[in-house]
Amino acid sequence: MLEFKRHRRLRSSANLRSMVRETVLQKEDLIYPIFVKEGENIKNEVPSMPGVFQISLDLLEEEIKTVTDLGIVSVIVFGVPKDKDDVGTSAYCDHGIVQQAIQKIKMVNEELVVIADTCLCQFTNHGHCGVIEEGVILNDPTLELLAKTAVSQAKAGADIIAPSNMMDGFVAAIRQGLDEAGFANIPIMSYAVKYSSAFYGPFRDAAHSAPSFGDRKTYQMDPANRLESLREAESDVLEGADFLIVKPALSYLDVIREVKDNFAYPVVAYNVSGEYSMIKGASLNGWIDERAVVMEKLTSMKRAGADLIITYFAKDVAKWLSE
Ligand code: PBG
Repeated sequence: MLEFKRHRRLRSSANLRSMVRETVLQKEDLIYPIFVKEGENIKNEVPSMPGVFQISLDLLEEEIKTVTDLGIVSVIVFGVPKDKDDVGTSAYCDHGIVQQAIQKIKMVNEELVVIADTCLCQFTNHGHCGVIEEGVILNDPTLELLAKTAVSQAKAGADIIAPSNMMDGFVAAIRQGLDEAGFANIPIMSYAVKYSSAFYGPFRDAAHSAPSFGDRKTYQMDPANRLESLREAESDVLEGADFLIVKPALSYLDVIREVKDNFAYPVVAYNVSGEYSMIKGASLNGWIDERAVVMEKLTSMKRAGADLIITYFAKDVAKWLSE
């Protein structure tokens, strides 16, 4: 008698498959990125990200209503400012584009969880995430500016601060800044593990944040490293992070699992711009089934250990999940 296991028994019907399904994607898992641009009546589609727009403050209300009606509970805000200087002043001034956008969003929907991306690269004329001296990106002088940015975002009404700039000590500096300003209850969603990735290319079109010289390799991580992700996550936890982001997601599912297994904190996968553009490009050409591919990809991020996913597909996925 031939002896073997019959795994297909549990796959024989749709209902049975749904009963043994290990990973389920829900609307509450989704965080939708929004690009706000200074000016009026602006709705610019990002050429390398079909379906993603830079929008001006006056069109934000409509966008927030759409997002809310779809059942999305959280957005992350990125600013595209008019004015840039060498120290990124528009990132931390009280009337900055991000601060204004946060206020507006909270006015439209108080309940929506508003996450502020806290970085300088969109706001500096050199496009780097920190202060520069003779071509070197300085760590410690940047920390003070990040803390200032975070406090101004919290003052505007941000529910969560998400620092993405990869200077050492940014969580400690921001935690201290928030606490001293009376925001002890505002959580930090740290971009704890952020690789220096070619998959950010389309985002830099969307946010006008490409570095004007060099690259980000002295602060963002080397894609070849796994153990380093544990050191990065560990220091952020010790410094007071409440969530840990791994970014990008698709090429780093092993790292998501590693972080999930080693730290008892919510893990967030950032399904970045290049990952979006690849799927969009292929599906617009009719080469893949967009809906099926997106659902499979996001499910794989959850299976890898992500609790939440920042994704430009959030609106589509929320729609599909309701059908
Ligand atoms: C800012 C920032 C970047 C992204 C999010 N925040 C760009 C970068 O580090 O160059 C990328 C997001 C994406 O590609 O979707 N530091």
